[in-house]
Amino acid sequence: GAPVTVDISAIEAGQKVTFAWRSLPVFVVNRTTDQLAQLKGLDPRLLDPSSSDTGQQPKYATNPTRSIKPEWLVVIGLCTHLGCVPDFVPDIKPEPFDANWKGGFFCPCHKSRYDLAGRVFSGVPAPKNLAVPPYHFIDDSHIQIG
Ligand code: FES
Repeated sequence: GAPVTVDISAIEAGQKVTFAWRSLPVFVVNRTTDQLAQLKGLDPRLLDPSSSDTGQQPKYATNPTRSIKPEWLVVIGLCTHLGCVPDFVPDIKPEPFDANWKGGFFCPCHKSRYDLAGRVFSGVPAPKNLAVPPYHFIDDSHIQIG
């Protein structure tokens, strides 16, 4: 499939927009500073906190925010268990599943949870972090995916 260029200028802080690339949903999230701060300290609860699975993100997204620019998360919106589309739940703690969850992505199919960097929690069916597609910034308001 061909790369797609998407306009991110209207995505407000804290908001997620879904774009299509190769018939896949790609989530682009404009993370707030509070949301970025939440990522710290989750490591003991995560299956792959340092993104060591090189198949799940390009090298330039192997960092604590899993992104090129800290605020902008770009991930393929398919659960790594059986491919359902997770819900974006940035501020919800869906007790009783995990009282310490700060929010992120929640898969309605079998209750897998991911943080706001798409990192999967331990003890859920999903085996890997959400995948980061290849992408780059064309300018401050446009990303090319693919
Ligand atoms: Fe997401 Fe099973 S498909 S938890």
